[in-house]
Amino acid sequence: MLTPQRSLLKVIVLGDSGVGKTSLMNKYVYNKFSQQYKATIGADFVTKELQIDDKLVTLQIWDTAGQERFHSLGVSFYRGADCCILVYDVNIHKTFETLQTWHQDFLRQADPINPELFPFVLLGNKVDVDGGNSRAVSEKVARDWCASRGNIPYFETSAKEGYNVDDAFLCVAQTALAAE
Ligand code: GTP
Ligand code: MG
Repeated sequence: MLTPQRSLLKVIVLGDSGVGKTSLMNKYVYNKFSQQYKATIGADFVTKELQIDDKLVTLQIWDTAGQERFHSLGVSFYRGADCCILVYDVNIHKTFETLQTWHQDFLRQADPINPELFPFVLLGNKVDVDGGNSRAVSEKVARDWCASRGNIPYFETSAKEGYNVDDAFLCVAQTALAAE
């Protein structure tokens, strides 16, 4: 029998404070959600194993602090990343506007060989809020943003309801694997 191939993929989650980065990871890895907000300090990772075709993939998902920007994490932290997940809150327009900065800053710090081909995935989180009535960014606007940056895959998610969370991270793994 063939031994399945193993891959360790380093994934970095970025976005403004409070958009739900930690919540999305906790939902995905532990199937847990908390209403309580506890700001992330520094950076820490969780791992999740999954099988894609004949490959065993370990996602090493790095949570970061939206409040601190890139101040405390050195360049070496971003080097070697296989995928970057950008998160914004569909109800707060400002968190969508800053995506541009997160995207650019990531590329500057990680300095990948082919910046145009580097795998990003965008998540528009908190679609559950107010039954979708308090949205500040439409799905179309978000998809256009992705299309103009080399067709970044886009998912609308709710960490609270678990909506699209597994699908989004599966896409992260597939996208990172394809680019490896
Ligand atoms: P920083 O660590 O400061 O960068 O913030 P973060 O992006 O990690 O946000 P966090 O996951 O801590 O979530 C912030 C708040 O939003 C918490 O009170 C969560 O309960 C809430 N929250 C996160 N995701 C969702 C969601 O999908 N829906 C709703 N209704 N609330 C959410
Ligand atoms: Mg956090």
